Amino acid sequence: MRLPPKEFAARDGRRFVVRSARANEAGALFDHYLLIRAREPDVNVEEADEWMASADSVRRLIEGLDRAANGFLLVADAGGIVGALSIEGGRFRKVRHVGEVGVSVARGWRRQGVGRRLMETAIDAARTSKELSRLSLRVFSSNAPAIALYESLGFVVEGRRPGHLRIRGRDEDLILMGLPLR
Ligand SMILES: CC(C)(COP(=O)(O)OP(=O)(O)OC[C@H]1O[C@@H](n2cnc3c(N)ncnc32)[C@H](O)[C@@H]1OP(=O)(O)O)[C@@H](O)C(=O)NCCC(=O)NCCS
Repeated sequence: MRLPPKEFAARDGRRFVVRSARANEAGALFDHYLLIRAREPDVNVEEADEWMASADSVRRLIEGLDRAANGFLLVADAGGIVGALSIEGGRFRKVRHVGEVGVSVARGWRRQGVGRRLMETAIDAARTSKELSRLSLRVFSSNAPAIALYESLGFVVEGRRPGHLRIRGRDEDLILMGLPLR
């Protein structure tokens, strides 16, 4: 799915646009993802040196989600990518109605409402999709900012995998959250 662009003001007055990612910015989007993984190794399962993506695989992801009826990839653009959100619907018939959410905001743009605008835009768009009827996501139990954002938008905890994550010798829980769309 491709969504029309929408402009917003950040809390400090800076402007940004939430819009569908373009295939020709796969390199910039790859850099955004890589920076999140390098600077924050403890919010994603794969660490930077384990992440097998490339600018080319990000381009294929953008093109695939453009064509999908149950997914899309948004960026927050402020003259450069400052945030990204993907909803990837299940590939198989029994799970095509479930969209898995991933969101990230560049450090210099946090606490400015970018994550919330990305999530709100995505939830509204998911509600218009004929295929999606629920969103789901996985989040580390120590990721308080992300959990607070998701709960404020109506996501509820649906499960917890105790000790699913082992982070430099320390065990941590993985939390499963979901949001029914209708
Ligand atoms: C989680 C993340 C996307 C939030 O983005 P953001 O643009 O900073 O969020 P917003 O400014 O829109 O804040 C939305 C809400 O999130 C919560 N929140 C955000 N940062 C927070 C923090 N540091 N502490 C507590 N709550 C926080 C608050 O409820 C906030 O609402 P409020 O500002 O009205 O209090 C961002 O911190 C991030 O990219 N983190 C690294 C990647 C990541 O963890 N992704 C999620 C993996 S599951």
